[in-house]
Amino acid sequence: MAYYFFIFATLFFVLSPLALAQPFKAVNLGNWLVTEGWMKPSLYDGMPNNDLLDGSQVQFLSTKLQKYLSSENGGGTVLVANRPSASGWETFRLWRINETYFNFRVFNKQFVGLEDQGDKVTAVSDTVGNSQTFQIIRNNDDRNRVRLQASNGQFIQASSETLVTADYVGSGWEDSDPSVFKMTIVNIYSFRGEYQLTNGYGPDRAPQVLQDHWNSYITEEDFRFMSENSLNAVRIPVGWWIASDPTPPKPFVGGSLKALDNAFTWAQKYGMKVIVDLHAVQASQNGNDHSATRDGYQEWGESNIQETVAVIDFLAERYADKPSLAAIELMNEPMAPGVNLDTLIKYYQAGYDAVRKHSENAYVILSNRLGPADSKELLSFASGLKRVVIDVHYYNLFSDSFNNMNPQQNIDFIYNQRASALTTVTTTNGPLSFVGEWTGEWAVQGASMQDYQNFAKAQLDVYGRATFGWAYWAYKCAADHWSLKWMIENNYIKL
Ligand SMILES: *[C@@H]1O[C@H](CO)[C@@H](O)[C@H](O)[C@H]1NC(C)=O
Repeated sequence: MAYYFFIFATLFFVLSPLALAQPFKAVNLGNWLVTEGWMKPSLYDGMPNNDLLDGSQVQFLSTKLQKYLSSENGGGTVLVANRPSASGWETFRLWRINETYFNFRVFNKQFVGLEDQGDKVTAVSDTVGNSQTFQIIRNNDDRNRVRLQASNGQFIQASSETLVTADYVGSGWEDSDPSVFKMTIVNIYSFRGEYQLTNGYGPDRAPQVLQDHWNSYITEEDFRFMSENSLNAVRIPVGWWIASDPTPPKPFVGGSLKALDNAFTWAQKYGMKVIVDLHAVQASQNGNDHSATRDGYQEWGESNIQETVAVIDFLAERYADKPSLAAIELMNEPMAPGVNLDTLIKYYQAGYDAVRKHSENAYVILSNRLGPADSKELLSFASGLKRVVIDVHYYNLFSDSFNNMNPQQNIDFIYNQRASALTTVTTTNGPLSFVGEWTGEWAVQGASMQDYQNFAKAQLDVYGRATFGWAYWAYKCAADHWSLKWMIENNYIKL
């Protein structure tokens, strides 16, 4: 008996560092070091004009003409006021200067401004300055009734459908006033990332708001909770500005690096591993607010590779010797076709080399592209590298195809389509597979607790086959089913 125990114990001891760690059962510490307003809307309480943020898309209907302001041709020429309905050319993206002053970016990315000599309103400048700056003055009784004051002190007026000028000096609010517009905010309260939060509060208030958030949102107690509930790793989204902590470029604020250091300390104490995930890169790899974009344009490309590799190099150097470091993910959710495959692979190779410069052991995670992309497109490249992982994200959401599925159809989809999709990226002798994001929420309305339990169980069954493991999105969230902590505490999920 003792002999068998000895064999067993020896095997266990020898295999345990590998066998116990992987596949990982992990959770994303989402909305901690890269914020997402929908996960904690109260972060925006107390921000003045918090419906007019960077990237808010607004449309202006002239009350006199009952026509929308439009940047003719999408930009490059004058503004007109002749459209009966609003679409791309009639939509302006805000760059917030402070709570009432803004720049307006048009469809083709130019900024609205005054013409060099004169009062005509145009959209020709690729940069912002005084003449691209406008104050939005809201009516006290109807906050979506506005007048737009230009840098010359006068108001924009739609004097006719083809003549939009900034030369009005009156101050009325009547429908007949050519300077009054009805403003529609297209994406109200839905575009709230780190840029919107930090720039919305501005340099005086943002540092304290963020510091309070970092200190309270994730604490050592959470690592104790996670480890006691069978989780053995965390995936931590970080933003590119962490590499220039404590003085990142505005509007970002310093301090997230210290929080990440703390996470490593707590992870080690509770025997957990850390996956550092570069979630937000300069110029944005997907245009989503969680990439910390200012206005939703996806602009990351070839010219950003070097600065992005520098962030990876910084993270790898800092954490390479930490026993808790499991992996560094080079870029979260690059979006096809904006991020093209050749550029991405070039970056992934350089990012991989940067990690390897500091660590032989850390896994390097390559996120598959979202959008129209082949899920196997990274496999042959990755096969030439050591200790690499392909990350796929599976949500039964964000596509109309899920809207009419009942609970059983969702569960079948996991056991059939998801299982098969995961198989295609789970290779022998190639990279490992990782379901780096999934959640217990779905598009089903009014599902029962049992439905949710079955759905979670199906996902655990299938994603448990991923060779590197899985990570739930997220640990904490204002929306209950997105919070693994809530799901565990309320018996919706059993790990
Ligand atoms: C807001 O920005 C405008 C334009 O730069 C400036 O004139 C104004 O003083 C600023 N207001 C506040 C409250 O900072």
